[in-house]
Formats: sequence, structure tokens, C-alpha cells
Amino acid sequence: MRLFFSLWPPPAVTHLLAGVAQEFARQLGGKATRENTLHLTLAFLGEVPDERVPLLIAGAQGFRPASFTLTIDRLACWKRNRMLWAGCTSPPAELLSLADELSAMARAIGIGIEKRSFTPHLTLVRKLPAVDAVPQLPSLEPLHWPCSSFVLVQSRLTTDGSRYQTIAEFPFLHV
Ligand code: 2AM
Repeated sequence: MRLFFSLWPPPAVTHLLAGVAQEFARQLGGKATRENTLHLTLAFLGEVPDERVPLLIAGAQGFRPASFTLTIDRLACWKRNRMLWAGCTSPPAELLSLADELSAMARAIGIGIEKRSFTPHLTLVRKLPAVDAVPQLPSLEPLHWPCSSFVLVQSRLTTDGSRYQTIAEFPFLHV
């Protein structure tokens, strides 16, 4: 099955970001991410053989990072992928290490994930029709997102976009 580790924002954050996504899709065209699918991927695993999934879950259960807060305060565009995303001007070290360690754990159990640099982001709009004509993006009123768990999510590709289903949740330590 096609899997990824992710942070899933609380409703107050998804609601505000979905509003931003819809407003930009209205102005620029493209496809706004649905409110219930907004997320921040920590590690994209791709196709994982079913028999490896329990190992992956057991590995992830070994991670109990202290909870942290993300400040989502930045909008940016990736021209090559024709997408608009939201992220953090200064991603906290805890977020970067969690993403690195999850990828390393997945590799250690034989899941061949790509080694590419991690830019934490939530995709807001895909398929921007005229990416070169995107105006200077405004800064985002900072959104504070207290992160208290991460999730393992199954992605099913459909003609109408991706369908996501959480298959396991891993709580952070509350300190
Ligand atoms: P994206 O939003 O930037 O496309 C599920 O597809 C999630 O995994 C998305 O958040 C997607 O990021 C991310 N992802 C990272 N690498 C991917 C890849 N090679 N193929 C598909 N999705 C990927």
C-alpha cells in the first residue's frame, strides 16, 4: 500500500488554511486542497509491501518526541510542481529531526525511500495554470499549530485526487 508519515493539523488550522487555499485558487486558478486533506508530510514512503507495515508501525511507536508548536507563517510557490504551499519561516529542529529519523527508520527496515531534502510544507493549491504570473505572495498571518502526534496515512489515487486514510497514530510526549 502507498503510505506516508504526516502531521495532521487541528481543525482551527485546517479551516484557516483551506480558506487561504480557496482564495488563491479563485485568484490564480488551480485546484485548492480540500480542507479535510490538508497535511504536512514528514516522510513519503511510496508503495510498502503489506507484510512490512507492522514493522513500520512498531518502528514508529519507538518515537516519542516532546510535543512542539509549528508557526505556519509563509506562503511559497514551487514553479516546477506548479503548486502553492504554506510552511514555516523557521522550521523547529524537532520537526526536522523527526522527519529525518522516520526516514532513517523506514530505510533500516528495507523501505527504499528517496533521499531528498525535506522542506516542510502543506500543499494549498495544485496545478497552477500560470505559475510564472503568480504575483508576489503576501506573508501569512502566523498560525500556531500545537503538534501532539504524528500519523501513518494510506493514500489511494483516484481520478478525483488522492484519498487518505489514517492507519495509525503516534502520540508525542507532553512535557
Ligand atoms: P506534495 O503535497 O508536495 O505533493 C502524499 O502524496 C503526500 O506525500 C503529499 O503531501 C506529497 O507532497 C508527499 N510526497 C512527497 N514525495 C512524494 C512523491 N514522490 N510522490 C507522491 N507524493 C509525495
